[in-house]
Amino acid sequence: MEGKKLILLLFTMFVPLVFTKTFILQADNSRTRENHVVLNLANASNGNALMVTEIEPLSINFCIREKTTVRLNNFRFSSDNSNALFTVNLDHGYWLGTYYSPPRGGREDFINTGKFPRVYTFDAGWHVLKVDVRPGSANISVDNIEFDIDDERMNLEILQCTIMCIPEANFGVRRPTLTSNTESAVITQQSFDTKCAEVDNVNVPMYNPAVSQFLITATLPQYKSFANRRHDNLTNCPHLPPQLWRFSDFTASSDTADIRGQNSSLMFISNQFNSRKSIAVIASFKLEGEKEGSIDSKIGNELYLRFKNLNVPVTVMMQYRDNTGRLSEPSVRTFDQHTLEQMWTIPDFTWIEDTDNYIVLSMEADVIIKFEVDYLQLLKRPMVPDEVSTIYRSDDVIIEAVNVQLSWLAPKTMTVRLSNGGIAENITFIRIYRPIPWNNGYAQVFVLYNDGNVRLLPTAPDGTDWIPFGTSVIIGQTKADRVRPYTVITQVDIIPERWQMKVYYEDGSSVKMSLNSTNEETQLFVSDIDFMQDRFTHPFATIRSMYVDEGNTDVDSVKIDNKDTYHIMDQWGSLTGRSFAFHRRCISTHLTLSPDIQIDLLETNQAMTTATVPPTNI
Ligand SMILES: *[C@@H]1O[C@H](CO)[C@@H](O)[C@H](O)[C@H]1NC(C)=O
Ligand SMILES: *[C@@H]1O[C@H](CO)[C@@H](O)[C@H](O)[C@H]1NC(C)=O
Ligand SMILES: *[C@@H]1O[C@H](CO)[C@@H](O)[C@H](O)[C@H]1NC(C)=O
Ligand SMILES: *[C@@H]1O[C@H](CO)[C@@H](O)[C@H](O)[C@H]1NC(C)=O
Ligand SMILES: *[C@@H]1O[C@H](CO)[C@@H](O)[C@H](O)[C@H]1NC(C)=O
Ligand SMILES: *[C@@H]1O[C@H](CO)[C@@H](O)[C@H](O)[C@H]1NC(C)=O
Repeated sequence: MEGKKLILLLFTMFVPLVFTKTFILQADNSRTRENHVVLNLANASNGNALMVTEIEPLSINFCIREKTTVRLNNFRFSSDNSNALFTVNLDHGYWLGTYYSPPRGGREDFINTGKFPRVYTFDAGWHVLKVDVRPGSANISVDNIEFDIDDERMNLEILQCTIMCIPEANFGVRRPTLTSNTESAVITQQSFDTKCAEVDNVNVPMYNPAVSQFLITATLPQYKSFANRRHDNLTNCPHLPPQLWRFSDFTASSDTADIRGQNSSLMFISNQFNSRKSIAVIASFKLEGEKEGSIDSKIGNELYLRFKNLNVPVTVMMQYRDNTGRLSEPSVRTFDQHTLEQMWTIPDFTWIEDTDNYIVLSMEADVIIKFEVDYLQLLKRPMVPDEVSTIYRSDDVIIEAVNVQLSWLAPKTMTVRLSNGGIAENITFIRIYRPIPWNNGYAQVFVLYNDGNVRLLPTAPDGTDWIPFGTSVIIGQTKADRVRPYTVITQVDIIPERWQMKVYYEDGSSVKMSLNSTNEETQLFVSDIDFMQDRFTHPFATIRSMYVDEGNTDVDSVKIDNKDTYHIMDQWGSLTGRSFAFHRRCISTHLTLSPDIQIDLLETNQAMTTATVPPTNI
């Protein structure tokens, strides 16, 4: 008894945690159907089986996502009433098994081979399964093949090679001479799941209290694809309607009960101090803002009121409580049977995030004290296109400054100063173009937003006019616990012909950035780092990117020190290294040619760490 228990215990303790997934590939696919006779058989799993003969061997492509063990769980086939003998090989030379079956009950009598004894570990990518019918054997009808694959993230699209993945990518460490007294950086996993490809759900802050120089390198993805898919994909994305709230079909009178919406409500109060009949309709509502990465509480509005019908003229006085707590000047509109709808505009920056906002509408008429309202709704005002100005142009560089009419950190903006004396104010982001050698054009290689986001691109390869940005890096000390982490840049001083800039932050921090864009890659060298906030609790850089599913990503892996590769969404907690390559192993339908982004620590300053160690009592 004791022995049995012990064995059981050992068994449960030492079973490695392996996720095996089972997949079935049908023998008939759009390619094999062209090259083989297809038999309609009632007992075949999808009603069809594929005729395989000595002179028409079956070859099926399959792909795997990472280096894994591939097991054939079953091979389902039948033959006519004679002997069948065939061999199954992988990748033109790896023998899996040879099967013999004596005559059976005919084509509808399918045989399951069960598990194949031979098992191989294959690298990620493209593989071939081949079935050879041996001389003298009956031809066989193949229904399907069942695979067992030890990879939790494997899916049928990958197995069918609709999504291709490459083996380990190679990211040489950029300063391999760094000695062991260079402090390593730590990255932490702050990513969350999403179904929307336009959400930056990948969030990886990087910490190193002593960092004094680091390098960001953007290269074309290491997978081979020439498909320049570069448009957004709004499937499963939250629909952002212009409407903030709407109440339809109600009667405004003193005895109307409160109406509650999701984040808004209406109250009705009759005004007794007025000689005319008057009803005050009070709308109270909450709006999301900066904390949620939303501009709803910042953007100005259009408030629409429409009555169902009116026999007598009605005047409506609108007032709102602004973010200082004061009631706005009254704004009066008159309605009658010909003018049933009127609109008021409310300026940007009126509302407060997280707290009740109020609009009061006082409706007055000589006789009626019930007002039949068709609807009352608050809309976001229409957006105005960005204002772009070219602030520098030469043979070697073009710099554009962009004013976004209401960016998410508005009214915060930055001032851009050029070494030639030029100044651009009220700027949300700048973008830098460099010439491309094979035509007379320029290509965008760098963007810097006032929230600290940096986007880098290698030069657009020959044959393309532009390729999309993907993964971005926030440079500077962000609060790491935010839904949308950010810093605030107030000023950028640029020496255009040297591709250099000094970046100043709201908290007094500053860094120097030098851009180097060659045919191979674009690099941003960050140095002269002067940070004001606690370097232990604030990251120096934060990676933001997107992962929805394999093949629908802007990043799927991170490789550390060119050694260990981790899946970007795995629960790895925190990882340590000096070189971090955020890249894709599986060809993505989203922004296919957007770059792999590598970050290398180049130098750390020992004095920084020792200086910040708290004193100890003796
Ligand atoms: C399907 O297979 C079963 C045995 O598994 C057999 O009894 C049946 O006759 C087959 N169907 C046809 C249409 O032959
Ligand atoms: C299958 O084999 C039979 C005889 O064994 C032959 O008559 C028939 O033509 C073969 N079918 C195909 C598609 O080759
Ligand atoms: C768009 O994203 C959804 C997931 O949100 C995905 O199912 C779909 O395949 C994507 N479309 C393309 C063209 O990649
Ligand atoms: C509005 O209500 C929904 C559901 O109750 C909630 O998830 C959301 O955060 C609310 N928005 C605001 C601005 O309060
Ligand atoms: C800055 O830009 C915003 C948005 O375009 C505009 O409303 C504002 O008046 C500008 N401020 C200055 C000082 O130019
Ligand atoms: C720019 O990058 C190339 C390699 O991509 C390197 O050889 C060169 O030294 C770099 N220049 C500067 C100024 O860093």
